[in-house]
Amino acid sequence: MEAMKRTVDCGALRKCDAGRKVILNGWVHRKRNHGRVFFINLRDRYGITQVTVDTEANAFLSGICDELRNEYCIAVEGNVSPRPDDMVNPSMETGEIEIAASNIVILNKCEVLPFQIEEESKANEDLRLKYRYLDLRSAGMQNRIRLRSDVTFAIREWMTANGFYEIETPTFIKSTPEGARDYLVPSRLYPGKFYALPQSPQIYKQLLMVSGFDKYFQIARCYRDEDSRGDRQPEFTQIDIEMSFSGREEVLTMTEGLMRHVFNKVLKTELPEKFKRLSWVDAMELYGSDKPDLRFDMPLQDFGPYVGAGSFQALKDALASGGAVKAIVVKGRADYSRKQIEELEAHAKIYRAKGLAWMKVAKDALEGGASKFFADNASLITCGLGASEGDLILLAADVNRKIANTAMGAVRSKLGRDLGLCDPAKFEFAWIIDFPMFEYNEDEKKWEAAHHLFTFPQEKYHETMESDPGSVKGDLYDLVLNGNELASGSIRIHDPAMQKKVFNIAGIDPEQAEKKFGFLTEAFRYGAPPHGGIAPGLDRLVMIMAGLTSIKDVIAFPKNSFAVSPMDDCPSEVDQKQLDELHLTVNRE
Ligand code: AMO
Repeated sequence: MEAMKRTVDCGALRKCDAGRKVILNGWVHRKRNHGRVFFINLRDRYGITQVTVDTEANAFLSGICDELRNEYCIAVEGNVSPRPDDMVNPSMETGEIEIAASNIVILNKCEVLPFQIEEESKANEDLRLKYRYLDLRSAGMQNRIRLRSDVTFAIREWMTANGFYEIETPTFIKSTPEGARDYLVPSRLYPGKFYALPQSPQIYKQLLMVSGFDKYFQIARCYRDEDSRGDRQPEFTQIDIEMSFSGREEVLTMTEGLMRHVFNKVLKTELPEKFKRLSWVDAMELYGSDKPDLRFDMPLQDFGPYVGAGSFQALKDALASGGAVKAIVVKGRADYSRKQIEELEAHAKIYRAKGLAWMKVAKDALEGGASKFFADNASLITCGLGASEGDLILLAADVNRKIANTAMGAVRSKLGRDLGLCDPAKFEFAWIIDFPMFEYNEDEKKWEAAHHLFTFPQEKYHETMESDPGSVKGDLYDLVLNGNELASGSIRIHDPAMQKKVFNIAGIDPEQAEKKFGFLTEAFRYGAPPHGGIAPGLDRLVMIMAGLTSIKDVIAFPKNSFAVSPMDDCPSEVDQKQLDELHLTVNRE
């Protein structure tokens, strides 16, 4: 091998290199036999270079070419020659040259491939994951993993330049209260005891503030035993950040600076100096979601004021019971068929809407669907909603305002996708602020922390928080991007007395609190500084930057939708001896 070590990579050579004698190492991407000449496209991480072999002039090389198959790993020695003008390939970076091979060595053969290595693999997902090392050879995956590496580097660059220390925190910890199920690691030395894998480094980063590190970040692996979805994996990565002596403004400004740097450096995209801000209530009322996609407008409108101008009893009943009637005006879509509207209605029903009423705006009139209830007041409604001829109006009413909002929010999102309004090259950030601090769990009949138990309630609610938990807003914020929750964070409680109050409202009794988080509340008694932080999801960030909708596509070795890795077949059974050492008995029923 020493003699055939590469002198240049497969993406480097240009016309000005003509005449150079070079050695390339890589994989046979494609081979074509044109009679006298054999063409090999040789590929590595850097690109593809065309190699030509004059089979008549060199019987030995001709024999090797016959043997070559796609994905053989080979070394090629040869001279760089400019391609004849009519053979130049402008779609290849190295398209002006080719290598006239003088020697080829097969470094390793390749068995029959389970699927072809193409720009994007067309094989089904489980096969791609089973042979992930091959799937990762595709240009698409190579580009995305490079993007991820570039993003990670840009993050480290910016955080370090701005005074943050990168500090690792343990992955064997006492369980953190993030809300999902923990992955547990049994202890061999202490029968019946378990470590938990961190759902996030939340508690440790707060302790680092108590330790005086002031500004911390970590590209942190997190583990949550929850059902996988497009934007969720059982193990994922956060850009975990915490800052001392900082309030919401500092954390938001810092995050904007980080995002601006990353997008500028990696995608050459300029983001605005300040991101939009929406209160949680406005996000729910206007977009029916706490992670609205702002690449398109189409807000939810309050139809309440027009209900009295018609005779639609279901709408009247919803309002009379303290509910809401929400409308969406779909510009220029009066041509939507009954079937298309029914599809939207079915979608709304997934989100518990009772139905989806509709009307079409014609010249000076409303037509179809619910229009008969509003015949006399068409212009009042169209003017009020800002609808004009050719528009489609959709309506949902519910006694529960939240259902009316979320169902219409889901309809809005579907319309955005169906109408091609979600341009993957557009990046619309927004902060969602002023979230409710507590949510009422109807099943368990108790208040729970909406984010986590260490979020600081906004000061104006401190007096009333125990008597009226439902109206308390927390000092917490989400960063949303193109309809995804990219990051969550909050200003934390640093005062043990306030922490006690929050535990109390969330129904965590002092003994339980002491057992679970005693070490944290104790730490706060030693001069804990005011602090706050945030954690953008790295996988989601890279996914959105790549214009994709599944984080699996930006993770080298993800799990499938059933939390399984088809490649190494994990999770898998272990030997009885291992179980015995861990003092575990498996109930296989
Ligand atoms: P949170 O639980 O909201 O906050 O998570 C922060 C961000 O992490 C990403 N994320 C995920 N990405 C992929 N798969 C998952 N299963 C998954 N779960 C979360 C999201 C999300 O916005 N400790 C707090 C942060 C803080 O308060 O500083 C936390 O973990 O992008």
